[in-house]
Amino acid sequence: MANSVEIRNLDLSFGSVEVLKDLNLDIAEGEFLVLLGSSGCGKSTLLNCIAGLLEVTDGQIFIKGKNVTWAEPSERGIGMVFQSYALYPQMTVKGNLSFGLKNAKVPKAEIEERVARAAEILQIEPLLNRKPGALSGGQRQRVAIGRALVRDVNVFLFDEPLSNLDAKLRVDLRVELKRLHNQLNNTMIYVTHDQVEAMTLADRIAVMKSGKIMQLGSPDEIYNKPKNLYVADFIGSPSMNFLEGQLEGGTFKKGGVVLPMTGYQYVNPLQVTDRPVTIGIRPEHVVTGELAAKAPVQSEVTVDLVEPMGSDTLVWSTFEGNSFRFRMDGQAPVTNGDTIKIGIDPAKGSLFDTSSEDRL
Ligand SMILES: Nc1ncnc2c1ncn2[C@@H]1O[C@H](COP(=O)(O)OP(=O)(O)O)[C@@H](O)[C@H]1O
Ligand SMILES: [Mg+2]
Repeated sequence: MANSVEIRNLDLSFGSVEVLKDLNLDIAEGEFLVLLGSSGCGKSTLLNCIAGLLEVTDGQIFIKGKNVTWAEPSERGIGMVFQSYALYPQMTVKGNLSFGLKNAKVPKAEIEERVARAAEILQIEPLLNRKPGALSGGQRQRVAIGRALVRDVNVFLFDEPLSNLDAKLRVDLRVELKRLHNQLNNTMIYVTHDQVEAMTLADRIAVMKSGKIMQLGSPDEIYNKPKNLYVADFIGSPSMNFLEGQLEGGTFKKGGVVLPMTGYQYVNPLQVTDRPVTIGIRPEHVVTGELAAKAPVQSEVTVDLVEPMGSDTLVWSTFEGNSFRFRMDGQAPVTNGDTIKIGIDPAKGSLFDTSSEDRL
């Protein structure tokens, strides 16, 4: 498939501070790509480079095959939606939606048509004559999205568009955004620090750290085959349980913990030698009850703390001296101090070289 956006060897520094370093990224036509990372890792900086709001220090940016590295934002065919809705407070919703089109000298009838269509898609028709002050946060953000929508752009850029909304609304608008993408199929580049947004929305996620892409892959790859310890720890809530030990003849060992890695899919089976390793085990891959009795590895843990979530219960425990979290049924009668039988399938875990932190 053709690429919509190509980023080649991009560097960006603020004075002597390097924020993006030799960054490369291809985004396919119609793809929903999420830039995910903790605050300050350079997500907005990268998005602003694509938008043309920041001058790059080195490297090139292509949109639809055209080198736009030095093009004005208005020449790039992009529509941007910010966390702060950035609406004109003195204009009505309709005024906000049509403003950019009027400036671009789009004929009046066409403006009417495009505004009506965007309003219909975003279900803000009843709000067209209101001013932003008379809208809720979610409605304002819909208008902000509408403003990008009317412009008929190649690429939508979203910078944490849901961060200012309360939790319930965030979920609602997240679903709407996904519907919108299914419907329009435009290329969307979406910045967030929220892994749930990333997992639910993305075709592919780029996990960023300190201006670098740590892993680029589908939500499934990022979740099930994290490329390094950083990604493994960042993705998943609660995060993976990590045990540092030794790989010896295909078995993970740490004190009383012995996990045969039979069936584990190594990245490069021919290069696996004994060494210090860290194993990551997702809480949901630890089983209890009848399932535990059938698991390849069985053990007992002591319950330290119980967090009821309703649908399930998060149990904090101690496993051979290590802190260990897992999930149980929401109705499971479990209390502090209980001893529980657990089962683990080590092949479902993730093995990392302890010194390089790379997946084995
Ligand atoms: N205008 C600026 N001048 C100097 N440093 C900046 C500027 N904008 C951002 N930074 C720095 O660049 C880094 C990345 O920022 P940003 O891209 O906003 O991160 P994110 O969006 O991932 O939270 C941060 O360390 C930030 O302090
Ligand atoms: Mg940001």
